[in-house]
Amino acid sequence: EKGTYPHYMLKEIDEQPVVIRNIIQKYQDENGALTIDENIVSAMKEADRIYIIAAGTSNHAGLVGKQFIEKMAKVPVEVHISSEFGYNIPLLSKKPLFIFISQSGETADSRAVLVSVKEMGHKALTITNVPGSTLSREADHTLLLHAGPEIAVASTKAYTAQIAVLAILAEVTAKAKGLSLGFNLVQELGIVANAIEILCDSKEAYEDIARSFLATTRNAFFIGRGIDYYVGLEGALKLKEISYIQAEGFAGGELKHGTIALIEDGTPIIALATQESVNLSIRGNVKEVVARGANPCIIAMKGLEQEGDTFIIPEVHELLTPLISVIPLQLISYYAALHRDCDVDKPRNLAKSVTVE
Ligand code: M6R
Repeated sequence: EKGTYPHYMLKEIDEQPVVIRNIIQKYQDENGALTIDENIVSAMKEADRIYIIAAGTSNHAGLVGKQFIEKMAKVPVEVHISSEFGYNIPLLSKKPLFIFISQSGETADSRAVLVSVKEMGHKALTITNVPGSTLSREADHTLLLHAGPEIAVASTKAYTAQIAVLAILAEVTAKAKGLSLGFNLVQELGIVANAIEILCDSKEAYEDIARSFLATTRNAFFIGRGIDYYVGLEGALKLKEISYIQAEGFAGGELKHGTIALIEDGTPIIALATQESVNLSIRGNVKEVVARGANPCIIAMKGLEQEGDTFIIPEVHELLTPLISVIPLQLISYYAALHRDCDVDKPRNLAKSVTVE
Protein backbone atom coordinates (compact mmCIF):
# COMPACT_ATOMS: atom_id res chain seq x y z
CA GLU A 1 0.00 0.00 0.00
CA LYS A 2 1.16 3.54 -0.58
CA GLY A 3 0.49 4.65 3.02
CA THR A 4 1.02 8.38 3.45
CA TYR A 5 2.48 8.80 -0.04
CA PRO A 6 0.34 10.57 -2.63
CA HIS A 7 1.64 8.24 -5.36
CA TYR A 8 3.27 4.84 -5.64
CA MET A 9 5.99 6.34 -7.81
CA LEU A 10 7.19 8.64 -5.02
CA LYS A 11 7.09 5.79 -2.51
CA GLU A 12 9.04 3.53 -4.84
CA ILE A 13 11.66 6.24 -5.45
CA ASP A 14 12.11 6.59 -1.70
CA GLU A 15 12.42 2.83 -1.24
CA GLN A 16 15.59 2.64 -3.31
CA PRO A 17 18.17 2.84 -0.48
CA VAL A 18 16.40 0.00 1.33
CA VAL A 19 16.20 -2.01 -1.89
CA ILE A 20 19.95 -1.65 -2.52
CA ARG A 21 20.76 -2.70 1.07
CA ASN A 22 18.36 -5.62 0.78
CA ILE A 23 20.00 -6.78 -2.47
CA ILE A 24 23.47 -6.67 -0.89
CA GLN A 25 22.20 -8.85 1.96
CA LYS A 26 20.40 -11.32 -0.28
CA TYR A 27 23.52 -11.86 -2.37
CA GLN A 28 25.99 -12.18 0.51
CA ASP A 29 27.29 -15.46 1.92
CA GLU A 30 27.90 -16.06 5.64
CA ASN A 31 31.33 -14.41 5.33
CA GLY A 32 29.94 -11.29 3.73
CA ALA A 33 31.28 -12.07 0.24
CA LEU A 34 28.96 -11.62 -2.74
CA THR A 35 27.73 -14.90 -4.13
CA ILE A 36 25.35 -16.21 -6.78
CA ASP A 37 24.21 -19.69 -7.84
CA GLU A 38 27.27 -21.55 -9.14
CA ASN A 39 25.40 -22.75 -12.25
CA ILE A 40 24.94 -19.12 -13.24
CA VAL A 41 28.60 -18.38 -12.59
CA SER A 42 29.61 -21.35 -14.79
CA ALA A 43 27.28 -20.16 -17.56
CA MET A 44 28.86 -16.69 -17.35
CA LYS A 45 32.37 -18.14 -17.41
CA GLU A 46 31.68 -20.41 -20.37
CA ALA A 47 30.04 -17.73 -22.50
CA ASP A 48 32.18 -16.13 -25.19
CA ARG A 49 29.59 -13.36 -25.63
CA ILE A 50 26.54 -12.21 -23.71
CA TYR A 51 23.36 -10.97 -25.34
CA ILE A 52 21.19 -8.81 -23.11
CA ILE A 53 17.58 -8.65 -24.28
CA ALA A 54 15.13 -6.21 -22.70
CA ALA A 55 12.57 -3.47 -23.34
CA GLY A 56 12.17 0.10 -22.10
CA THR A 57 13.73 0.89 -18.76
CA SER A 58 15.05 -2.66 -18.43
CA ASN A 59 16.89 -2.17 -21.70
CA HIS A 60 18.48 0.99 -20.28
CA ALA A 61 19.61 -0.98 -17.23
CA GLY A 62 21.07 -3.51 -19.67
CA LEU A 63 23.21 -0.80 -21.28
CA VAL A 64 24.72 -0.03 -17.89
CA GLY A 65 25.09 -3.76 -17.23
CA LYS A 66 27.12 -4.11 -20.43
CA GLN A 67 29.66 -1.68 -19.00
CA PHE A 68 29.88 -3.69 -15.77
CA ILE A 69 30.25 -7.08 -17.43
CA GLU A 70 32.79 -5.88 -19.99
CA LYS A 71 34.85 -3.80 -17.56
CA MET A 72 34.77 -6.14 -14.57
CA ALA A 73 34.32 -9.65 -15.99
CA LYS A 74 35.88 -9.01 -19.42
CA VAL A 75 33.15 -10.73 -21.41
CA PRO A 76 31.87 -8.92 -24.54
CA VAL A 77 28.21 -7.92 -24.31
CA GLU A 78 25.59 -6.85 -26.85
CA VAL A 79 22.40 -5.15 -25.70
CA HIS A 80 19.29 -5.57 -27.85
CA ILE A 81 15.75 -4.24 -27.83
CA SER A 82 13.49 -7.28 -27.46
CA SER A 83 11.05 -6.33 -30.21
CA GLU A 84 13.87 -5.76 -32.72
CA PHE A 85 15.86 -8.91 -32.01
CA GLY A 86 13.26 -11.37 -33.34
CA TYR A 87 13.50 -10.33 -36.99
CA ASN A 88 17.02 -8.98 -36.89
CA ILE A 89 19.04 -11.69 -35.18
CA PRO A 90 22.72 -10.76 -35.27
CA LEU A 91 25.39 -13.27 -36.19
CA LEU A 92 25.70 -15.13 -32.89
CA SER A 93 28.97 -16.16 -31.28
CA LYS A 94 29.87 -19.84 -30.73
CA LYS A 95 28.88 -19.94 -27.05
CA PRO A 96 26.33 -17.22 -26.41
CA LEU A 97 24.55 -16.66 -23.11
CA PHE A 98 21.28 -14.74 -23.19
CA ILE A 99 20.31 -12.49 -20.29
CA PHE A 100 16.69 -11.33 -20.19
CA ILE A 101 16.07 -8.33 -17.95
CA SER A 102 12.42 -7.80 -17.07
CA GLN A 103 10.86 -6.29 -13.97
CA SER A 104 7.57 -8.12 -14.53
CA GLY A 105 8.99 -11.22 -16.17
CA GLU A 106 5.95 -11.09 -18.46
CA THR A 107 6.95 -8.79 -21.33
CA ALA A 108 5.74 -10.52 -24.51
CA ASP A 109 8.46 -9.02 -26.76
CA SER A 110 11.15 -10.45 -24.49
CA ARG A 111 9.38 -13.78 -24.14
CA ALA A 112 9.21 -14.18 -27.93
CA VAL A 113 13.01 -13.91 -28.07
CA LEU A 114 13.43 -16.33 -25.16
CA VAL A 115 11.26 -18.92 -26.93
CA SER A 116 13.29 -18.66 -30.13
CA VAL A 117 16.74 -18.77 -28.51
CA LYS A 118 15.70 -21.78 -26.43
CA GLU A 119 14.60 -23.46 -29.67
CA MET A 120 18.05 -22.72 -31.05
CA GLY A 121 19.47 -24.57 -28.01
CA HIS A 122 21.01 -21.57 -26.22
CA LYS A 123 21.16 -20.96 -22.47
CA ALA A 124 19.22 -18.14 -20.85
CA LEU A 125 19.25 -16.29 -17.55
CA THR A 126 16.34 -14.09 -16.48
CA ILE A 127 16.81 -11.14 -14.11
CA THR A 128 13.37 -10.31 -12.77
CA ASN A 129 11.48 -8.91 -9.81
CA VAL A 130 8.76 -11.56 -9.96
CA PRO A 131 9.55 -15.10 -8.85
CA GLY A 132 7.61 -17.65 -10.88
CA SER A 133 7.00 -15.21 -13.75
CA THR A 134 6.91 -16.56 -17.31
CA LEU A 135 10.43 -15.42 -18.21
CA SER A 136 11.76 -16.88 -14.97
CA ARG A 137 10.06 -20.25 -15.50
CA GLU A 138 11.12 -20.58 -19.11
CA ALA A 139 14.79 -19.60 -18.70
CA ASP A 140 17.51 -21.94 -17.40
CA HIS A 141 18.40 -19.63 -14.51
CA THR A 142 16.91 -16.71 -12.57
CA LEU A 143 18.34 -13.88 -10.52
CA LEU A 144 15.78 -12.00 -8.43
CA LEU A 145 15.73 -8.24 -7.91
CA HIS A 146 14.24 -8.39 -4.40
CA ALA A 147 12.82 -4.88 -4.93
CA GLY A 148 9.31 -5.60 -3.61
CA PRO A 149 6.24 -5.03 -5.80
CA GLU A 150 6.56 -2.10 -8.20
CA ILE A 151 3.09 -0.67 -8.80
CA ALA A 152 3.66 2.66 -10.60
CA VAL A 153 3.81 2.19 -14.37
CA ALA A 154 7.02 4.25 -14.47
CA SER A 155 9.79 1.96 -13.34
CA THR A 156 12.14 3.40 -10.70
CA LYS A 157 13.28 1.00 -8.00
CA ALA A 158 13.33 -1.92 -10.44
CA TYR A 159 15.84 0.00 -12.60
CA THR A 160 18.24 0.62 -9.73
CA ALA A 161 17.74 -2.95 -8.50
CA GLN A 162 18.55 -4.29 -11.99
CA ILE A 163 21.74 -2.25 -12.07
CA ALA A 164 22.77 -3.42 -8.59
CA VAL A 165 22.15 -7.07 -9.46
CA LEU A 166 24.05 -6.70 -12.75
CA ALA A 167 26.99 -5.22 -10.82
CA ILE A 168 26.93 -8.20 -8.45
CA LEU A 169 26.74 -10.62 -11.38
CA ALA A 170 29.76 -8.92 -12.99
CA GLU A 171 31.71 -8.92 -9.73
CA VAL A 172 31.07 -12.58 -8.93
CA THR A 173 31.96 -13.58 -12.51
CA ALA A 174 35.16 -11.54 -12.36
CA LYS A 175 36.12 -13.19 -9.08
CA ALA A 176 35.42 -16.66 -10.50
CA LYS A 177 37.69 -15.82 -13.44
CA GLY A 178 40.46 -14.75 -11.05
CA LEU A 179 40.22 -11.10 -12.10
CA SER A 180 40.77 -8.48 -9.46
CA LEU A 181 38.52 -5.43 -9.41
CA GLY A 182 40.48 -3.08 -7.21
CA PHE A 183 37.40 -2.13 -5.21
CA ASN A 184 35.00 -3.70 -2.75
CA LEU A 185 31.55 -3.80 -4.34
CA VAL A 186 29.70 -4.44 -1.06
CA GLN A 187 31.26 -1.34 0.42
CA GLU A 188 30.67 0.74 -2.72
CA LEU A 189 27.01 -0.29 -2.94
CA GLY A 190 26.63 0.69 0.72
CA ILE A 191 27.98 4.14 -0.15
CA VAL A 192 25.48 4.29 -3.02
CA ALA A 193 22.55 3.46 -0.71
CA ASN A 194 23.54 6.31 1.62
CA ALA A 195 23.95 8.68 -1.33
CA ILE A 196 20.45 7.84 -2.63
CA GLU A 197 19.07 8.59 0.82
CA ILE A 198 20.73 12.02 0.78
CA LEU A 199 19.37 12.74 -2.71
CA CYS A 200 15.83 11.70 -1.75
CA ASP A 201 15.95 14.15 1.15
CA SER A 202 16.06 17.26 -1.02
CA LYS A 203 12.71 16.95 -2.78
CA GLU A 204 11.95 20.70 -2.73
CA ALA A 205 14.94 21.32 -4.97
CA TYR A 206 13.65 18.90 -7.62
CA GLU A 207 10.17 20.29 -7.30
CA ASP A 208 11.51 23.82 -7.86
CA ILE A 209 13.43 22.76 -10.95
CA ALA A 210 10.42 20.90 -12.34
CA ARG A 211 8.25 23.95 -11.75
CA SER A 212 10.58 26.55 -13.17
CA PHE A 213 12.12 24.44 -15.88
CA LEU A 214 9.52 22.01 -17.20
CA ALA A 215 6.08 23.33 -16.25
CA THR A 216 5.16 24.64 -19.68
CA THR A 217 7.81 23.35 -22.07
CA ARG A 218 6.89 21.19 -25.07
CA ASN A 219 10.23 19.40 -25.17
CA ALA A 220 13.38 18.65 -23.20
CA PHE A 221 16.70 17.04 -24.00
CA PHE A 222 19.05 14.93 -21.92
CA ILE A 223 22.72 14.78 -22.77
CA GLY A 224 25.62 12.78 -21.43
CA ARG A 225 28.61 10.76 -22.59
CA GLY A 226 29.39 7.11 -21.91
CA ILE A 227 27.45 5.77 -18.96
CA ASP A 228 25.82 9.20 -18.49
CA TYR A 229 24.34 8.94 -21.97
CA TYR A 230 22.57 5.70 -20.95
CA VAL A 231 21.18 7.38 -17.85
CA GLY A 232 20.03 10.27 -20.05
CA LEU A 233 18.03 7.80 -22.16
CA GLU A 234 16.34 6.59 -19.00
CA GLY A 235 15.70 10.17 -17.79
CA ALA A 236 14.06 11.01 -21.10
CA LEU A 237 11.86 7.90 -21.05
CA LYS A 238 10.77 8.66 -17.49
CA LEU A 239 9.90 12.26 -18.32
CA LYS A 240 8.02 11.46 -21.52
CA GLU A 241 5.97 8.58 -20.19
CA ILE A 242 4.53 10.40 -17.19
CA SER A 243 4.58 14.11 -18.13
CA TYR A 244 3.97 13.74 -21.90
CA ILE A 245 6.79 16.20 -22.59
CA GLN A 246 8.60 15.26 -25.79
CA ALA A 247 11.96 14.22 -24.33
CA GLU A 248 15.01 12.64 -25.93
CA GLY A 249 18.38 11.49 -24.65
CA PHE A 250 21.44 12.16 -26.78
CA ALA A 251 25.12 11.35 -26.69
CA GLY A 252 26.86 14.71 -26.15
CA GLY A 253 29.08 14.31 -29.19
CA GLU A 254 26.13 13.63 -31.51
CA LEU A 255 24.54 17.05 -30.96
CA LYS A 256 26.54 18.67 -33.70
CA HIS A 257 25.46 15.95 -36.13
CA GLY A 258 21.88 17.15 -36.23
CA THR A 259 20.14 17.53 -32.90
CA ILE A 260 21.56 20.95 -32.15
CA ALA A 261 19.21 22.31 -34.83
CA LEU A 262 16.37 21.74 -32.34
CA ILE A 263 17.78 24.10 -29.73
CA GLU A 264 15.82 27.33 -29.39
CA ASP A 265 15.64 30.06 -26.82
CA GLY A 266 14.71 28.43 -23.52
CA THR A 267 14.90 24.77 -24.63
CA PRO A 268 15.51 22.77 -21.43
CA ILE A 269 18.67 20.68 -21.50
CA ILE A 270 19.49 18.32 -18.68
CA ALA A 271 23.17 17.42 -18.74
CA LEU A 272 24.88 14.69 -16.72
CA ALA A 273 28.52 15.04 -15.69
CA THR A 274 29.58 12.15 -13.46
CA GLN A 275 32.59 10.85 -15.37
CA GLU A 276 35.97 12.47 -15.02
CA SER A 277 37.17 11.19 -18.41
CA VAL A 278 34.44 13.06 -20.30
CA ASN A 279 33.79 15.98 -17.96
CA LEU A 280 35.49 18.53 -20.19
CA SER A 281 33.83 17.32 -23.36
CA ILE A 282 30.32 17.29 -21.91
CA ARG A 283 30.96 20.77 -20.52
CA GLY A 284 31.87 21.79 -24.05
CA ASN A 285 28.53 20.43 -25.28
CA VAL A 286 26.68 22.38 -22.60
CA LYS A 287 28.43 25.57 -23.77
CA GLU A 288 27.41 24.83 -27.38
CA VAL A 289 23.73 24.54 -26.50
CA VAL A 290 23.73 27.46 -24.07
CA ALA A 291 25.23 29.62 -26.82
CA ARG A 292 22.11 28.77 -28.87
CA GLY A 293 19.75 29.80 -26.07
CA ALA A 294 19.24 26.50 -24.20
CA ASN A 295 18.28 26.57 -20.54
CA PRO A 296 20.63 24.11 -18.79
CA CYS A 297 20.13 21.97 -15.69
CA ILE A 298 23.47 20.36 -14.89
CA ILE A 299 23.76 17.35 -12.62
CA ALA A 300 27.40 16.86 -11.68
CA MET A 301 29.18 14.52 -9.33
CA LYS A 302 31.02 16.00 -6.40
CA GLY A 303 34.62 16.62 -7.37
CA LEU A 304 33.65 17.37 -10.99
CA GLU A 305 31.35 20.29 -10.26
CA GLN A 306 31.68 23.73 -11.82
CA GLU A 307 30.17 27.06 -10.98
CA GLY A 308 26.53 27.25 -11.98
CA ASP A 309 25.79 23.52 -11.75
CA THR A 310 22.21 22.82 -10.65
CA PHE A 311 22.68 19.68 -8.56
CA ILE A 312 25.83 18.23 -7.05
CA ILE A 313 25.37 14.54 -6.33
CA PRO A 314 27.52 12.70 -3.76
CA GLU A 315 30.64 10.95 -4.96
CA VAL A 316 30.36 7.21 -5.58
CA HIS A 317 32.49 4.73 -7.55
CA GLU A 318 32.61 5.89 -11.18
CA LEU A 319 30.99 2.70 -12.50
CA LEU A 320 28.08 2.98 -10.07
CA THR A 321 27.07 6.59 -10.82
CA PRO A 322 23.91 5.53 -12.76
CA LEU A 323 22.45 4.35 -9.45
CA ILE A 324 22.52 7.87 -8.09
CA SER A 325 22.43 10.19 -11.12
CA VAL A 326 19.06 8.69 -12.06
CA ILE A 327 17.49 9.79 -8.75
CA PRO A 328 17.23 13.52 -9.60
CA LEU A 329 15.89 12.53 -13.03
CA GLN A 330 13.17 10.33 -11.49
CA LEU A 331 12.18 13.08 -9.06
CA ILE A 332 12.22 15.85 -11.66
CA SER A 333 9.95 13.71 -13.88
CA TYR A 334 7.64 13.01 -10.97
CA TYR A 335 7.21 16.69 -10.11
CA ALA A 336 6.93 17.74 -13.76
CA ALA A 337 4.05 15.27 -14.19
CA LEU A 338 2.46 16.48 -10.97
CA HIS A 339 2.60 20.14 -12.02
CA ARG A 340 1.17 19.30 -15.40
CA ASP A 341 -1.76 17.49 -13.75
CA CYS A 342 -0.87 14.13 -15.22
CA ASP A 343 -1.87 10.80 -13.75
CA VAL A 344 1.56 9.96 -12.33
CA ASP A 345 1.04 6.31 -11.47
CA LYS A 346 -1.12 5.43 -14.48
CA PRO A 347 -0.01 7.39 -17.54
CA ARG A 348 -2.29 7.31 -20.56
CA ASN A 349 -1.96 4.52 -23.13
CA LEU A 350 0.45 2.48 -20.97
CA ALA A 351 0.22 -0.75 -18.98
CA LYS A 352 2.53 -1.97 -16.23
CA SER A 353 3.32 -5.19 -18.02
CA VAL A 354 3.12 -5.30 -21.76
CA THR A 355 1.89 -8.79 -22.52
CA VAL A 356 1.20 -8.26 -26.22
CA GLU A 357 3.82 -8.23 -28.96
O1 M6R B 1 8.56 -5.65 -17.03
P1 M6R B 1 9.66 -5.21 -17.97
O2 M6R B 1 10.88 -4.76 -17.26
O3 M6R B 1 9.97 -6.26 -19.01
O4 M6R B 1 9.04 -3.98 -18.74
C1 M6R B 1 9.74 -3.37 -19.78
C2 M6R B 1 9.14 -2.03 -20.13
O5 M6R B 1 7.80 -2.18 -20.55
C3 M6R B 1 9.19 -1.06 -18.95
O6 M6R B 1 10.47 -0.90 -18.45
C4 M6R B 1 8.64 0.32 -19.38
O7 M6R B 1 9.52 0.91 -20.30
C5 M6R B 1 8.43 1.20 -18.15
N1 M6R B 1 7.10 1.68 -18.10
C6 M6R B 1 9.37 2.37 -18.07
O8 M6R B 1 9.17 3.13 -16.93
